[in-house]
Amino acid sequence: MPAVGGFDKGTGREYPGNLTPFVMVTCIVAAMGGLIFGYDIGISGGVTSMKPFLEKFFPSVAEKQRNAAKNNQYCQYDSETLTLFTSSLYLAALISSLVASIVTRKFGRKLSMLFGGLLFLAGALINGFAKAVWMLILGRILLGLGIGFANQSVPLYLSEMAPYRYRGALNIGFQLSITVGILIANVLNYFFAKIKGGWGWRLSLGGAMVPALIITIGSLVLPDTPNSMIERGQHDEARKKLRRVRGVDDVNEEFNDLVAASEASKLVEHPWRNLLQRKYRPHLTIAILIPFFQQLTGINVIMFYAPVLFNTIGFGDDASLMSAVITGSVNVAATVVSIYGVDKWGRRFLFLEGGTQMLICQAIVAACIAAKFGVDGNPGDLPKWYAVVVVLFICIYVAGFAWSWGPLGWLVPSEIFPLEIRSAAQSINVSVNMFFTFVIAQVFLSMLCHMKFGLFIFFAFFVLIMSIFIYYFLPETKGIPIEEMGQVWKNHWYWSRFVGENDFVANGGLEMGKGRNAAKV
Ligand code: BGC
Repeated sequence: MPAVGGFDKGTGREYPGNLTPFVMVTCIVAAMGGLIFGYDIGISGGVTSMKPFLEKFFPSVAEKQRNAAKNNQYCQYDSETLTLFTSSLYLAALISSLVASIVTRKFGRKLSMLFGGLLFLAGALINGFAKAVWMLILGRILLGLGIGFANQSVPLYLSEMAPYRYRGALNIGFQLSITVGILIANVLNYFFAKIKGGWGWRLSLGGAMVPALIITIGSLVLPDTPNSMIERGQHDEARKKLRRVRGVDDVNEEFNDLVAASEASKLVEHPWRNLLQRKYRPHLTIAILIPFFQQLTGINVIMFYAPVLFNTIGFGDDASLMSAVITGSVNVAATVVSIYGVDKWGRRFLFLEGGTQMLICQAIVAACIAAKFGVDGNPGDLPKWYAVVVVLFICIYVAGFAWSWGPLGWLVPSEIFPLEIRSAAQSINVSVNMFFTFVIAQVFLSMLCHMKFGLFIFFAFFVLIMSIFIYYFLPETKGIPIEEMGQVWKNHWYWSRFVGENDFVANGGLEMGKGRNAAKV
């Protein structure tokens, strides 16, 4: 078996540096930027399954639902305006992540996080007090603008702050807070749905103010990354900051590499146009395909619509919200596994294991739904064991995602881009992710209505393709300093044809492709 993505360990530099309390606290605070994204993902599905909310804003869906017992279950939620409510946010996020690229590059990662928090705060307020559908949509657009800024800047911030040996674990703090945000939202929905008078949805939507305040305040107290300070010409402060972050005095080697990377990036006037250069082909491909594939795992079908989906397959309202809490908890727990393993077992192992696990579960869930609902969507009586089996395999599927594509979908792109294209390429990553999140959110309910159980087979097919892609085209990036990443392409069986000997030479002095760096794997 060819070691298609392997990497000759021990090549490149080893910068001194510890996992200092300073870097830990900084990364934990920054990672909380993921809360706003997660809260939002988790809240919308629950809210759209609350009857009083539907009666107020989407009466036609409420009406359809009342008749669902008689009709086709697969189609009870199929409504364009309802999906627009969920998905409008992601279009806004797509646009703002492109603007955020400029803010992040010119003014630092912190300012983008601050914008993210403030916009999200405004959106949460409008949603909590919404009186008409337009207020709901406006609120969600503001939330989306906030998420675009946060998702563009937080992963970069984390990957730059972290000592490279712990970069995977610290970066996954972002995904962990996404999953915690989703879970908190699921739990709140469960309780708020029970509030007498049916106004619990206002608390669910308005509650987004809490994570918004956390990232807003966080961004004010966080330090800038040394990389970003150098990028903006503040060399002395950057050196001091690097010493503080790494907890050692001797940071010269890393500092010089950062300066060299920054000098190289200054020569680049048009980071966007630059991305089209041949030597950036691997980066561009990965910046597009990783987020595309992440969404095509089908995860957001579960995250957005778990309550709706469980409702569709026959669970009562309460049981549906409760099942979302169960999948949400599995999501958090399995993310912790990847924090533990990502810098030990590597990215490729997690991707491939997680992919296999998801594939098997999708096939089983499709078979279960097909067996009971067939194509007419009329299940008759559903025995309890059936519900348990479906929820169980959905949980195993979620776990597979949560230790592979979930965190790695954010980690891998944020660590592979050289500084000169980092901000622009990260925006591509975020906008592709948001675009496909939008597409899935927008079409899922009608896909469910038309493709029925085949929907799960559709996603399983993509999981197979993405696993093959990882196997052949993704090099291992574990344990490689971020400014040294160039060598992984030179050592790769396929990407080496795009990257020349003199491309991505850190500090001008490292001769990659010679001696200890020569291994082609
Ligand atoms: C994805 C989201 C998804 C979440 C689930 C994230 O990495 O980008 O789309 O809902 O993981 O935990």
